[in-house]
Amino acid sequence: MSGLFITLEGPEGAGKSTNREYLAARLREQGIEVVLSREPGGTPLAERIRELLLTPSDESMASDTELLLMFAARAQHLTGVIRPALARGAVVLCDRFTDATYAYQGGGRGLGEVRIAILEDFVQGPLRPDLCLVFDLPIEVGLARAAARGRLDRFEQEGSAFFEAVRQTYLRRAVASPERYRVLDAAQPLEAVQRDIAALLPDILERCRG
Ligand SMILES: Nc1ncnc2c1ncn2[C@@H]1O[C@H](COP(=O)(O)OP(=O)(O)OP(=O)(O)O)[C@@H](O)[C@H]1O
Ligand SMILES: [Mg+2]
Repeated sequence: MSGLFITLEGPEGAGKSTNREYLAARLREQGIEVVLSREPGGTPLAERIRELLLTPSDESMASDTELLLMFAARAQHLTGVIRPALARGAVVLCDRFTDATYAYQGGGRGLGEVRIAILEDFVQGPLRPDLCLVFDLPIEVGLARAAARGRLDRFEQEGSAFFEAVRQTYLRRAVASPERYRVLDAAQPLEAVQRDIAALLPDILERCRG
């Protein structure tokens, strides 16, 4: 038995966490075991690495340090949560994963994708998400939603060029592998976004049974 690995991607405030709950509820109604997780983080040790990554600090973090910490947290998360859940046949709904590394460190920081791809193979082997839901919206809408929540983390303090690169990287990756990505218009009212997610359910359930 092998489960299904679904990731939710998109910028701050796009609605990943909100809609992850919605999708989890729809799948659980079908009697499916759903495991919710997030990156960076997902285990106690990986959450400590998350703190390092998100907390603003006087010492600026080198981009390579940031990249390696992302994959260090991911290695721990894969071992502690994702691989065991998939092995027992669960659906894993993960708020951000390696597409975020391509978008933020690759696009936003300008690290490029070659080294990210090397680390992806090193840490994940052949494991890739079965399906990636990209919550797409104009950057100012997402930043306004995130700002309404209060204090900004280390990434949320970046400027609009950074977030535009993040957005374009997600969209490019979705266009390159249409069978593994679904782009959702996250600027719509929440009910409309959830209608679009509900429309994906037959395909997701088919993949669970396949
Ligand atoms: N379609 C929507 N329309 C209006 N508001 C929304 C919509 N989706 C989510 N929100 C609201 O925007 C805020 C951010 O949503 P959420 O926390 O789900 O985003 P996120 O993608 O998880 O953000 P982050 O990356 O910062 O964790 C929340 O207050 C949520 O209620
Ligand atoms: Mg969230």
